[in-house]
Amino acid sequence: MAKAMTMCYLLLIIFFVYAATADTQIKVTNNPADKLVAAINENRTAHKASSLTDNPGLACIALQYIKAYQGDCGAVGGSDAKKPPESQFAEVFAPNCGVVASTLAPITGRFLGCETKYLHAPEAFSEILIRNQKSLDILYSKNHTQVGAAVTGTDGGSPYFWCVLFSSGKPNKTFTFESGVAKITKPGCFSGANDECSGASDWSALNGIWLFATSVLIAMGFALAL
Ligand SMILES: *[C@@H]1O[C@H](CO)[C@@H](O)[C@H](O)[C@H]1NC(C)=O
Ligand SMILES: *[C@@H]1O[C@H](CO)[C@@H](O)[C@H](O)[C@H]1NC(C)=O
Ligand SMILES: *[C@@H]1O[C@H](CO)[C@@H](O)[C@H](O)[C@H]1NC(C)=O
Repeated sequence: MAKAMTMCYLLLIIFFVYAATADTQIKVTNNPADKLVAAINENRTAHKASSLTDNPGLACIALQYIKAYQGDCGAVGGSDAKKPPESQFAEVFAPNCGVVASTLAPITGRFLGCETKYLHAPEAFSEILIRNQKSLDILYSKNHTQVGAAVTGTDGGSPYFWCVLFSSGKPNKTFTFESGVAKITKPGCFSGANDECSGASDWSALNGIWLFATSVLIAMGFALAL
């Protein structure tokens, strides 16, 4: 009898643990950008830093940021590193996203990574985006209140770009959409918009001008405060 009770009790525990995990998994969609934000917040909270609000307007801008590189992995890091001019945020990125330019808030940190091999979000986070002490300082910075992440492939595949933007603005009042709802821009995936984005069709074509030899493994990245 006691044995049966214990058994029953154990089964109940297993059921509840299972239900709890299933529940948290539903909140994180298939979207790799959402998964990247989850990895960032997990890592921050493990370090007693606050969990950041996922802002879809900021995330859409992160996707535009990637597009500014037009698939050129070599421009992401190393000696030929390039960075889109700051004026692009208000003049190009915000309008493309339907984000009201007057609601743009300061960017308090950014990570950009490019990789010829597709990595899942947790690996992209730990292997490409977090590269040194400087990236850790940015990751754990108290200056951020919100985050947005984006991921895209080129021509439906390699190279893959990951971008994370952090901001100090008030989550509900900054990077707001003109229409009130997220404007989903394809190709590519961005976080915070409850957008199921995972299939090859979601990745495809930054217009196919850039054909990179995919046999050459490139991994580039940079981390910038402000
Ligand atoms: C947070 O990320 C860093 C860099 O990838 C890693 O060294 C550390 O173990 C992570 N911490 C947790 C709690 O996952
Ligand atoms: C936080 O913001 C302050 C003031 O702008 C700046 O000096 C500092 O470097 C920032 N910290 C990080 C980790 O970016
Ligand atoms: C911000 O937005 C969230 C989600 O839409 C809502 O639950 C929350 O109440 C809002 N907070 C403020 C201060 O407006």
